[in-house]
Amino acid sequence: MGLCFGVRRAIRLLEEAAGKFGSLDSLGPVVHNRRVVERLEGMGVRVAGGPEDLENRVVAVSSHGLSPQDMKALEGREVIDATCPIVARAQRAARGLARAGFQVVVFGDCLHPEVRGLLGWAGDGALATEAPLNLQPWPKRLGILSQTTQSPEAFAGFVACALPPTIGGGVELRVVNTICQPTRRRQASALELARRVEVMLVVGGKTSANTRRLAEICSPLVEVHLVEKAEDIDPAWVAGRRSIGLTAGASTPDEVIMEVEARLRALAGLGAA
Ligand code: F3S
Repeated sequence: MGLCFGVRRAIRLLEEAAGKFGSLDSLGPVVHNRRVVERLEGMGVRVAGGPEDLENRVVAVSSHGLSPQDMKALEGREVIDATCPIVARAQRAARGLARAGFQVVVFGDCLHPEVRGLLGWAGDGALATEAPLNLQPWPKRLGILSQTTQSPEAFAGFVACALPPTIGGGVELRVVNTICQPTRRRQASALELARRVEVMLVVGGKTSANTRRLAEICSPLVEVHLVEKAEDIDPAWVAGRRSIGLTAGASTPDEVIMEVEARLRALAGLGAA
């Protein structure tokens, strides 16, 4: 649990840039975690809402990546590209499918910055959805890929729903598995733990897609609470419980996880961690 390599890399790149240039803009929060963003702000990293809101010559692209159109809007500036390499691979997959003549569908949240960026690489007619696919008419060639932080089970279910109409309708179907391995391993570990405890705490930002997904996949198995910090814990969740599971999203810093663990131990009468 905790910070994945893509997020660690993005934070390191921004810290280095802040040290070198003094101040810079980040296009959107570099990761979906308030504590990390506030710490970087203290170092001179200002969060800009979009390319039209930039104040500095130096601009950083977040771990979620950007569409080629937004990248073009940054021409003439010093760009620190903190796009996660796994997101960059998904962008290349989207571009490859579009160039080969496939209509691209992204299994994901169309409002999430990673998915908005992916759609920019995926050519005309590309769309993103988490609902079962029902295109009217179906294209001759259909390419499906996933937001990197989706669960493998949900992606498999999405593809399975698309199989009868596409195969029955003679559609050429290409599926690219763009789910990231650290996310897959984190979800598998969280599920294993959720089966063995009475309540699960998921630590992370409420706007973090991978954090919310951890809570979603565990909730059919056990009572789940998503907390951003130790103070969010309601003592009633812990009272009388013999086992509590703890996991954290990929953008949650180690110190926040340790603070949550320490508070849980204190509430359970086990002393500080
Ligand atoms: Fe990258 Fe996966 Fe982390 S896509 S930012 S390694 S959750």
